[in-house]
Amino acid sequence: MVIDFLDLRKQINGIDKKIFNSIKKNIDKSSYIGGEDLLNFQKNFSKYLNVKYCLGVANGTDALEIAIKCLNLKKKSEIIVPANTWISTAESVINNNHKLRFVDVDETHNICVKDLKRKISNNTSAIIIVHLYGNLANVEKIKKISSKYSVKIIEDCAQSHGAELNGKKTSSFGDISTFSFFPSKNLGCFGDGGCIVTNKKDLFLKAKKIANHGGLKKNSHSIIGRNSRLDNIQAGILNIKLNYLDKWISLREKQAKFYKHNLNGVGDIKFIKQIENSRSSNHLFVIKTNKRNKLKKYLLKKKIYTAIHYPLSLPQMPVFKKKHKFYCSKMNAVKWSNNIISLPIGEHMNKTKIKKVCLSIKSFFNG
Ligand SMILES: Cc1ncc(COP(=O)(O)O)c(C=O)c1O
Repeated sequence: MVIDFLDLRKQINGIDKKIFNSIKKNIDKSSYIGGEDLLNFQKNFSKYLNVKYCLGVANGTDALEIAIKCLNLKKKSEIIVPANTWISTAESVINNNHKLRFVDVDETHNICVKDLKRKISNNTSAIIIVHLYGNLANVEKIKKISSKYSVKIIEDCAQSHGAELNGKKTSSFGDISTFSFFPSKNLGCFGDGGCIVTNKKDLFLKAKKIANHGGLKKNSHSIIGRNSRLDNIQAGILNIKLNYLDKWISLREKQAKFYKHNLNGVGDIKFIKQIENSRSSNHLFVIKTNKRNKLKKYLLKKKIYTAIHYPLSLPQMPVFKKKHKFYCSKMNAVKWSNNIISLPIGEHMNKTKIKKVCLSIKSFFNG
């Protein structure tokens, strides 16, 4: 039995006809840019998140770049970013000509509150909170610390569609939040897509302006903007998939529980810590072991495909290493980049497959 890390075709089994019909409808109407599906998706997704405004953009990286731009931070501001995240979170800071300040991660693999206290200062203008793997960052504590410095909070929810803290969805804690609809995300489209959400009308209108060549009306450009759109065909696909998101998250939750039940106490395996009263979207199921590389090879021999998110933490990344090496070597993010391994999870998985993965991991550790 081959166990793929990901098999996106399985996710749309049973809803593919609806999706094909939606694509056909928009092709028949030549409705590609803007349109009814985009308006509906923006409305439906903000309702799902319980956030007032949603703006579809071209991808999650654009969403971050535009969100930062909206905040009108002073030139060369310092923005705090967790040391383990996808490159886009940091890229968006540099592309806005601001300064990066990496903060270490804790057992949740998100911003470490202790390190945040050490690194935040009067030079800090914003913090980008990432809910990595779909696992909640300690938003309440981060907000408490940041309120003393009146810094802006951006939530990068690219991996946390539907994740919650005390029943409140991620994206509703900060000033402005961003999502990616990259195909492999819990809510993904058939190409690139993303959105910005906020409860603040002024930020929403600013984002809309920036994403639409600097103008809210056609042929009237009041600032230098860019072109960043979620197209109508993708929005139509997302509208259909949104109806299944909670079901998919529940399935992932069950799978994560089953993994934990089977792998508890096996070898030196450790799980990612979840903060109290939070519900992860389980976008990724990550475990830690000192024997990561050997385990990965062993599983591959058994045709079990795994991944690493991410093999290098950002302070180790060639583009940042020179500037940050003096404090990176002792970081958890750096240490754990050698230990983390993501196991297959999602609609293509079932109990039998998870059992096989777990039995293989047990046989690796127990011989
Ligand atoms: C945490 C995080 N931020 C931002 C992004 C960027 O999203 P996109 O690939 O849609 O630009 C991703 C995508 O993988 C991500 O995981």
